Parts: sequence; C-alpha cells; structure tokens
Amino acid sequence: MRDVKIAASVLAADFARLGEEVRAVDTAGSDWIHVDIMDGHFVPDISFGPAVVKAIRKSTQKPLNVHLMVVEPERMLERYRDAGADHLLVQAEPGSTIHLHRVLSRVRELGCKPGVVIDPATPIAWIEHVLHLVDIVLVMTVNPGFSGQAFLPEMLPKIAALRARCNERGLHPHIEVDGGQNPHTVRQSVEAGADVIVAGTALFNQPDYAKAIDAMRMNCS
Ligand code: DX5
Ligand code: ZN
Repeated sequence: MRDVKIAASVLAADFARLGEEVRAVDTAGSDWIHVDIMDGHFVPDISFGPAVVKAIRKSTQKPLNVHLMVVEPERMLERYRDAGADHLLVQAEPGSTIHLHRVLSRVRELGCKPGVVIDPATPIAWIEHVLHLVDIVLVMTVNPGFSGQAFLPEMLPKIAALRARCNERGLHPHIEVDGGQNPHTVRQSVEAGADVIVAGTALFNQPDYAKAIDAMRMNCS
C-alpha cells in the first residue's frame, strides 16, 4: 500500500482560534496544511488572502498546500509564494485559470510545487498536456466552495483512470482528493489511487484530532 498523507483543511477550523487550531493539527500528525483561498467569484464565498496565509505560516513548519479557488490565479502567485505557500494549486477550468500551462510553469519558476485541480465535472483529458508539469493533481470529490459536503462516489473511477494514465506515462504526481473525506471514503479513495487526503470537517469536528487522523490512516492500509 502506498504512503498516504493527510492534509488538514483549515477552512473547517475555528477561525477565532486559527493559530491554535493549526498548531493542534500539526501536533496531531497532519502531514500538510491545506489552505483554501476563495474569492467570491469562482466560488460564492470569500475565505482569506495572503495575510492570513502568512499568519498560518508562523504556526507550522508543515508544507502549506494552497488551493486557489479564484478567478485568474495568475495575478496573485507571487503574493502567496511570499506569504509562505509551498504548493500552489490552480483550477484547470478556464473559468478560473486562463493559461493553465503558463501558470503551472510559472509556479515552478517561483520555487513552489505546482498542482492542478479538477472539479467533479472536469474530465482528466483536460489536464493531459500539463500532467508532466505538476507535482500534485487534486481531484475534487465535492463541488468546490464549502466544507461539510457529501463525498461524490462517482469520482472513484476518475481517480483510478487518472492513476492508470499517470502510470502509463511514467509520471508519479501525488493524487490528492478533496471534499467529504472521512475514514470510510479514505479507504475507497486510496484503493482507487489517491495518496493525499484533504480532511476538513471529518477532522475539525472531532474532539481528538490525533485520533481522527489515526482513524483515517488506519483505513489506508
Ligand atoms: C472545498 C474545499 C475543501 C474543504 C474540504 O471547496 O476545497 O478543502 O475545506 O472540507 P470537507 O473535508 O469538510 O469536505
Ligand atoms: Zn480545498
């Protein structure tokens, strides 16, 4: 079985105690910290911007996995890199990113790890010609915009097809899954080919974060 990473999604944290929450999931064993940037255009809500990413950066040494759910991420890559992002993930849909190939190349030039995100309705064919540019492919397992939604099981064959296609091409990006993950869906997602699990509600709504992370890890093997 592959080595599976857990990425705590701070969108589901208590924002009034954000630093404390980030330190708590770090200590509890989260491998990455997943940070959702939402601009009120690509998705309806607004979350936070570079200033808050900078504050999160001060609370953890773990990689910051920054998911840009915004229109034209190309306009703000440097700002998030400077705020401390390790990974910059952009949406594949043209309603968000205008020149996907260029943006992913630019993320690499800036010294961050590039990732591409595909929404539930977006076919893997859309990322065929940028797969070689990325370290991470994030498959949305809910529609983007909110924590606490139900996992879409019809994404499982897509994860499997993506892993198979990467193997065929000799590429080994992380395949990260985001949305509605819980100990049950983690097992299904990992069996399909995922190796990074974003956990929001299933982690932050539990009284003991270490136990919640362990419960997910146990279901990966
Ligand atoms: C949804 C975000 C997710 C979200 C996951 O648009 O990209 O990262 O915070 O939250 P849960 O795990 O509650 O679905
Ligand atoms: Zn996300």
